[in-house]
Amino acid sequence: MQKLGDTLAENFGGAFTKLGSRQFKLDDCPDLTEKVGVVTGGSQGIGFGVAYTLLKHNISKLYIISVNKEVFEGAKAVISDELGQDKAARMVWMKCDLSDWRRVKEVAEMIKRDNNRLDILVNNSGRGIMSAELTSYGVDRHMAVNHMGHVVLTSHLLPLMQKTAEEGNIVRISNQSSNLHTGAPKDTKFASLDEINQDVGPNAQYGRSKLAGILYSRYFNRKVTQNGHPNVLMNATHPGFVSTKQSREDILEPYPLGGYVMKYGIEPIKKDQFEGAVPTVFCATKIKDSGQYICPPCIPEEGSPMSQDDELADRLMELTRNIITEKTRVDSVERGCPMDDVVVH
Ligand SMILES: NC(=O)c1ccc[n+]([C@@H]2O[C@H](COP(=O)([O-])OP(=O)(O)OC[C@H]3O[C@@H](n4cnc5c(N)ncnc54)[C@H](OP(=O)(O)O)[C@@H]3O)[C@@H](O)[C@H]2O)c1
Repeated sequence: MQKLGDTLAENFGGAFTKLGSRQFKLDDCPDLTEKVGVVTGGSQGIGFGVAYTLLKHNISKLYIISVNKEVFEGAKAVISDELGQDKAARMVWMKCDLSDWRRVKEVAEMIKRDNNRLDILVNNSGRGIMSAELTSYGVDRHMAVNHMGHVVLTSHLLPLMQKTAEEGNIVRISNQSSNLHTGAPKDTKFASLDEINQDVGPNAQYGRSKLAGILYSRYFNRKVTQNGHPNVLMNATHPGFVSTKQSREDILEPYPLGGYVMKYGIEPIKKDQFEGAVPTVFCATKIKDSGQYICPPCIPEEGSPMSQDDELADRLMELTRNIITEKTRVDSVERGCPMDDVVVH
């Protein structure tokens, strides 16, 4: 019976959220005075729910990495109206498309240059359930944005996060995954670029990139947290079904008719953006473990068998490193390869 309660609490909003066997509320977020954070996609949807909460709890500086300036300005205006001008002034916007790995590196270098600590990194931006597409590097856009761009960002910020941890702090990284990671193709091997560039359909395309987010967390736990950096934690989250642009608008691109079920059919029981932010805020501010898959509000779940496969995680990260290195080789001569200081086995 409790299993059913957890499933409902994990996925749906309103009264369902009270059915979970563990509880965590946004108000349980600790005071974040002096801390510095980064949230990708922090200007709308779930990421905005996270950014709002971190600012409300006094984070001293918060970088928002996203694409659309107007959306960021709108988010900043809401923070100013509701939390005050002082909180809005703590927001720093960095325009960056996460599929542009050279730009991702630039942004990470600027953050490292301007700060002597980094406590929180929320890898939240994402391409939703949409049709297959290749980036200008010739890489599947779901994998390039949802997984690889965040690996480049994390890898370049890691030295600063390790320094922050060595100075007596707990540093937390949270990857936004989804229960839809179970929709990754059953024969996923992460063996080659050709494999991940196969068009496997919108759901599987999305699911594969979300599987990568959990595998990355478990890999990072083995290779970084358990390997000399016990206070640098990385976990993955499922936010539930949340009412956002992704679930209301983007879903209509691949499914002009069927998407209406997602847009309208389950809208009344979807979580709102603040309910959807709960597991991420938990992983960004409270969790003591690393390599977990956390479902709302703060329930560790096993995830699919593939998400627990260490060999698959090793292949994913080797492929990630090889693709990014290969695709940015031209840049690497003059500007430094985006993966040259990545922590790998
Ligand atoms: N909604 C759900 O039910 C649900 C369920 C499971 C997981 N998720 C995951 O939750 C995360 C947030 O999604 P959401 O539902 O809150 O959707 P959303 O409201 O559409 O927000 C997506 C955010 O990602 C940013 N973004 C998209 N493509 C980007 C790119 N190429 N480079 C940099 N930033 C980019 C967007 O930036 P702009 O603001 O500049 O447009 C936006 O801020 C995603 O990873 C999504 O897959 C959502």
